[in-house]
Amino acid sequence: MIPQETIDRVRDSVSLVELIREFVPTLRKAGRNFVARCPFHEERTPSFSVNPAMGLFKCFGCGVGGDAFKFVMLMEHLTYPEAIRQLAKRVGVPVPEVRAEKTPAVARERQALLDALETAAAWYHQTLLTSAEGATARDYLKQRGVMPNTWERFRLGYAPHSGQGFFEAATRKGITPEVLEKAGLIRRSDRTGRFHDHLWHRIVFPIQDAQGHVVAFGGRVLEEREGTPKYINSPETPVYSKGRHLYGLFLALPTIRKVRRVIVLEGYMDVIGCHQAGVEEAVATLGTALTADHARHLRRVAEEGLLLFDADTAGEAAAQRGGDVLLEAGVTVRVVSLPQGIDVDEFLLQQGLESFRKLLAEVSSLVEFQYAQAVKGRGGRVTTPEDKTAVADRVLPTIAKIQDPLLQDEWLRWLAEQLGVEKTIMGRKLHQMGNRREPVNTFIRAATSQADVPGGTSLGVRSLEEEILQVLLQEPTLVARCPWKAEEFLDQRCAQVFRLLQEALQGGHPLSIAALTGRLPEEWGDWFTGLAMEDKTYLQPDQVFQGFLKTWTTRSQEVQRRALQEVVARMLEGERPWDQRVYDQFDQLTKSLKGSLKG
Ligand code: UTP
Ligand code: MN
Repeated sequence: MIPQETIDRVRDSVSLVELIREFVPTLRKAGRNFVARCPFHEERTPSFSVNPAMGLFKCFGCGVGGDAFKFVMLMEHLTYPEAIRQLAKRVGVPVPEVRAEKTPAVARERQALLDALETAAAWYHQTLLTSAEGATARDYLKQRGVMPNTWERFRLGYAPHSGQGFFEAATRKGITPEVLEKAGLIRRSDRTGRFHDHLWHRIVFPIQDAQGHVVAFGGRVLEEREGTPKYINSPETPVYSKGRHLYGLFLALPTIRKVRRVIVLEGYMDVIGCHQAGVEEAVATLGTALTADHARHLRRVAEEGLLLFDADTAGEAAAQRGGDVLLEAGVTVRVVSLPQGIDVDEFLLQQGLESFRKLLAEVSSLVEFQYAQAVKGRGGRVTTPEDKTAVADRVLPTIAKIQDPLLQDEWLRWLAEQLGVEKTIMGRKLHQMGNRREPVNTFIRAATSQADVPGGTSLGVRSLEEEILQVLLQEPTLVARCPWKAEEFLDQRCAQVFRLLQEALQGGHPLSIAALTGRLPEEWGDWFTGLAMEDKTYLQPDQVFQGFLKTWTTRSQEVQRRALQEVVARMLEGERPWDQRVYDQFDQLTKSLKGSLKG
C-alpha cells in the first residue's frame, strides 16, 4: 500500500497539461481549459478537455475522465499502483511502502503466482514452437487456419503428453509446488499422491488480465473424444476468476477504445479467428455468461456491445442474458445472429472477412431482437389482445433496463407503435413492472425545475443533488452553511462527495478536486469528472445556493409527505387505526407544499 499523503503529493506535483500533451500534442488552450480531440475514442471535433486548476481531464464525447493517474492508467494500461509509481518517478517523489502487516504478504503472494503463470506461458509457448512433440499441435493449428504470427500474438502453447514436463521445468527454476498448485498449474493426484500438470496433450491458450498479466489457461484437446472434455480451464485462483476476466481483452483493448465497441463471443477460437481476420475488438467469456463485473469493466471502454450468437435456442438465451447485463451497465446492445450450426471462427474461414463485415452490419438492437423472438413465440402473428400483452411482457423488462431515459422513452414509443397501442398505456405498464429508475428521478427532476434554480444553466438532466454539489465544488466554503447531513442525499455517490467535502472543511485542509476524485470508488470517476468539469459558471454562487436551500427544504417535506400519504391511505381504508395527529401533520405538509410551489 502506498500512503495517501504520497499519492496526494505526486498528484499535486504533476503538471496535468504537460503530461497529457506528451500523448496529445494538439492540446491547446481554450478559456480556463485546454482542449483536444479525445485520445480514447475517434472524433472530428474536440470534446476532450483538461482543467489544470482542478487537475482533471474529461471527455464529454466518450465520458472518460479523471486525474493524472487515471490518464496514464488508460493510456499505458497500468494498474492504479503502477500509475502512482510511474508518476512519482517522473516528479521525483519517493514512494515508501506502508508497513501494514497484511498487504505486502498478499501482494507478494499475488506476484509469486503471476511469476509462476508467466513462466508457464513461456514454457508452453516454447514447447509449441520448438519441441518434437509439439509437431502434432503445430499441424493441428495450421490445419485450423491459425497462422504462426497469431501463435505469437496470443502466445499459444502446447502441453505435452507426459503431464510432468512443466512441473519438472518449474521445479528446476525453484518454483515451489505450493505456488504452482495455488496458481492452478499443477494438481496432486488422489490416487498416487504425486503432482502432475493440470494440462497435458492440449493446445494451451493463456488468459491475460487487462494489464497483460497471464492469470490462467485454457487447454483444448487435439482430437475430440467421447468422455474427454474438449476444454479444460484453470480453476478459480487468487488471481483468476472467470466471472471477471475475458479472453482476448488485453489485446482487444486498444481497438475497443478506438471504435468504442466490443464484440462479445463465446469461444477461444472465435476470438483468435476474429483478431486474425482483422476484427480486433473481439473478446470471449470463459465458459460462463456475461456477469455484471464484466459489464462494468466494458462500459468504461465501450459504448456499444455486439453479441454474436448461434441461431439455436441456447445461443439466443445466452444473447438475451448477456444483453440484459450490458444494458443495465449502460452499454447499448446489438445482436447478430449467425447462420445455424456455424460459429464465428468457421464463418470467417468459410466465407471470409467481407461476408463477416456484412453480417456485422446486419445488427439489430436488443429490443428489436427480443421483439422478433417474442413474435416468433406467438407463431409469428400478433393480433389478439393476449398476443400483444404476451409480447409486451417479454420486451418491457429489457426496455426497463435501458439506463438512458431518452433512449428508454424512444424504445417505449417504438414498442407501442409495433403493437398498435397507446404509448401512455405502455408507459403505465412499464412503471407497473417496477421500473426502478422512475420514482426518484422524476421526483428530483420535478423539484429541480428552472424556476427553483436561479442562475442555473441546467439542461434538466442533472439532479438537484448533483447541481448542489456543482455549486459546492466551485465554492467549497458554502459547505459550512449546508444545514443537512450527508445521509439525507438520496444518491449514494452525491452523499459520499458531500461527506468528503465536509470532512475536508472540518479538517481545515483544503482538498483539491483531483484529490477528491482519488478518494471515490474508481467506477464513479467518469460521473464525478463530468459533474466537476461541466461548463457551468455560477456568477453568483451564493444566490444559487440560497435557491437550493429552499428547494431542498421543499424536497424533504415532500419525502416526508409521501411517507405519511401511505399511512393516511391505510387509515382511510380502515387498515390502520385512525390517528388524528398523523392526519394533521399530513394535511399541514400538503398545505405548506402548495404554498411553496405557488410562491
Ligand atoms: P465450443 O464447444 O463452441 O468450442 O465452446 P469452440 O470455442 O468453438 O472451440 P473449437 O472451435 O471447437 O475449437 C465454446 C467455449 O465454451 C467453453 C470454452 O471457453 C469454449 O471456448 N468450453 C467448451 C469449456 O470451457 N469446456 C468445454 O468442454 C467446452
Ligand atoms: Mn469453434
